[in-house]
Amino acid sequence: MARTRTVHRCSSCGASHPKWAGRCDSCGEWNSLVEELDQPTRGSGPLPDASIPVPVTQVGDEAAISVPTGIREFDRVLGGGLVPGSVTLVGGEPGIGKSTLLLQLLGGSAAAGIRSLYVTGEESASQVKSRAGRVGALHDDLWLVSETSLPNVKAHIDSVKPDLIVVDSIQTMHDPELGSAPGSVAQVRECANKLLNLAKARGISLVLVGHVTKEGTLAGPRVLEHIVDTVIEFEGDRHHGLRVLRATKHRFGPTSEVGLMQMNGDGLASVIDPSGIFLADRVAGVSGSAVVPTIDGQRPMLIEIQALVAGSSLATPRRSAQGVDPGRLAMLLAVLERRVGLSVSKCDVYALAVGGVRVVDPGADAGLALAVASALTGNPVGDDLVVIGEVGLGGELRQVGHQDRRLAEAARHGFRHAIVPGAVVDQPDGLTVLRAPTLAAAVELASVGPS
Ligand code: TYD
Ligand code: MG
Repeated sequence: MARTRTVHRCSSCGASHPKWAGRCDSCGEWNSLVEELDQPTRGSGPLPDASIPVPVTQVGDEAAISVPTGIREFDRVLGGGLVPGSVTLVGGEPGIGKSTLLLQLLGGSAAAGIRSLYVTGEESASQVKSRAGRVGALHDDLWLVSETSLPNVKAHIDSVKPDLIVVDSIQTMHDPELGSAPGSVAQVRECANKLLNLAKARGISLVLVGHVTKEGTLAGPRVLEHIVDTVIEFEGDRHHGLRVLRATKHRFGPTSEVGLMQMNGDGLASVIDPSGIFLADRVAGVSGSAVVPTIDGQRPMLIEIQALVAGSSLATPRRSAQGVDPGRLAMLLAVLERRVGLSVSKCDVYALAVGGVRVVDPGADAGLALAVASALTGNPVGDDLVVIGEVGLGGELRQVGHQDRRLAEAARHGFRHAIVPGAVVDQPDGLTVLRAPTLAAAVELASVGPS
């Protein structure tokens, strides 16, 4: 009789351990080991056709032709569209809009004559239909099935013969051939593997939806990131409409483009002018606000950064950062204190990037510091002024990439003055550029120091 062996598998990284432990040695995650049957990952079937090594110069050219999905921002991130036979993993927190995005993608593709199949393991077909009506995705070439069993999914693929499949979500799929429980790492990995092989063999574009945990990692199947061609993260602040699409892995092109979308009552719309959205509700003449031309991917965006400084009754004053890095804020407060002579050590400080965006660009440092300085002194930053620069621990302003493109975006939106650290090659029409070698000089130029 065959012995059934069990292993303890990490639900975060997929590593297997012979014994249970409180912490996974492989990825360091706590309490992530779950017991499951030890399944050989490869069946005992025939070996796949062996490949023959050839000199690299003699390999035939096989350009990846991408097919546009009809969603402009999704295509921008992919560098054109989905490549037939490719597998894309779309990850994001629950409720962020993954199902909505992919339903629109399927609807757009179906409208362009691409036979599309939506496999949902989370909602009923009628729920999906009503959403499809809302987002304008009702089309005869879009097929729908509510299914979680892998063999049935395969049978549906055989009967519908789609060119594009979305599986929402990969964590709900299970293969009864495997002993492990639905949702376990072994199930997720094997189901993804089988779907991937099918997609590759038939030249179908496959999109898998993956849930992301609170910590921001793809729940369980970090292993999936290795096997798929493209990983797209869909993120945003759930209380705001703005959503950001970012490729963290892409075998068919660069990962430097970001896509911006806005969640509306009738689904997601591509954002054409992000700066316009972020600055729409800006109030002129208020202290504690600075506008920064940031770059995300290849895209310049004007973002308003706000700060509020208030006397604190706490022994350790409160520091709150939304959309800006808390570590960066703490560093800038120390630089303001030691290098500029503006002390906020006995004050609560609140800082945020308006509009639900997350600013990671170091070029926003100077803007954040000026917003805090302005909030402290009550002297507003001029309405028509933008500021660019990374702040060093010595209080110096450092140059950041794409300065000229940032300035062009500011000029396009009617700003007349810019404080920058470096030399400017192309000074855009209508914009006067002021150079500041230090944060103290920038505070002076912007007139936000103590009066
Ligand atoms: P959903 O696509 O179900 O998210 P996910 O698949 O990532 O869990 O989207 C959920 C949210 O989007 C839901 O809270 C309602 C909102 N929504 C809109 O605001 N407008 C719309 O047109 C749709 C379809 C959803
Ligand atoms: Mg969903």
